[in-house]
Amino acid sequence: MTASQALLDVRDLRKSFRRSAGTFSGGSESERFTAVDGASFRVAAGETFAIVGESGCGKTTLARMLLRLIEPDSGQVYFAGENLLAAGGSGLRALRRQMQMVFQDPFASLNPRMRVGEIVAEPLAIHERALSHRERRNTAALMLARVGLGADALDRYPHEFSGGQRQRIGIARALILQPKLVVADEPVSALDVSVGAQVLLLLQQLQREFGLTYVFISHSLPVVAQLATQVAVMCAGRFVETGPARQILEHSRHAYTRQLLASVPEVPLPK
Ligand SMILES: Nc1ncnc2c1ncn2[C@@H]1O[C@H](COP(=O)(O)OP(=O)(O)OP(=O)(O)O)[C@@H](O)[C@H]1O
Ligand SMILES: [Mg+2]
Repeated sequence: MTASQALLDVRDLRKSFRRSAGTFSGGSESERFTAVDGASFRVAAGETFAIVGESGCGKTTLARMLLRLIEPDSGQVYFAGENLLAAGGSGLRALRRQMQMVFQDPFASLNPRMRVGEIVAEPLAIHERALSHRERRNTAALMLARVGLGADALDRYPHEFSGGQRQRIGIARALILQPKLVVADEPVSALDVSVGAQVLLLLQQLQREFGLTYVFISHSLPVVAQLATQVAVMCAGRFVETGPARQILEHSRHAYTRQLLASVPEVPLPK
């Protein structure tokens, strides 16, 4: 894959945080630790690039930098050849609408005071100012139907829905602008296994239907095995191993990956 073929081209991204004072004996107030320590990878259009690793290894920090929801300390992100970190104003807005995020917690990520129709249509209200209220509402209804929810959902509030339904609402919101890239950060880890499995199937269908590219974050190898075409194994802020999903899941050579694999009884391998 050449750089020009990659939808997403990430080079040496780094982010450190200040450790809170007094957390460690003798630690000075200005002591910093590195949450993401030089992540580089490329994702071709249509791929599902999974990032897998234990809690606290830096996955969410990396995901948020990809969409510039937090600013990296250094490194570069190219989206369809455009330099995301150098973009500003209308250029940045144009890039942002093509990259959307699905969040882990379907309870915290939806505004409880907004109706579902407004939640799903909000990105249109921001990016498609010329659309009428009615057009936005109609588009939201269509999007809800794509994720398996009826038009009656439009006027209801998030608390009236189950976790799986809420995650579907979050997905409808993420897709309403027809983005190219979706970064999904542990999208099923808050759900029961069977509910989560249905949401994964939905994500796969939507990927085909809309030609989406996914960066898919998970601590669960069985989940990753179901969706991923490429896998990066992350440990303490670094990628320890990256490659085609089958190779990583079947023929991992890295001790840390083997340890992760050994901790799950049976990983179904990707087709
Ligand atoms: N805003 C912040 N300020 C200080 N430290 C932070 C901040 N955000 C994250 N961290 C720390 O950075 C490290 C990586 O956090 P991150 O949330 O990226 O991990 P993660 O891999 O997503 O974990 P999990 O699987 O639990 O979601 C953790 O030690 C976390 O406490
Ligand atoms: Mg996280």
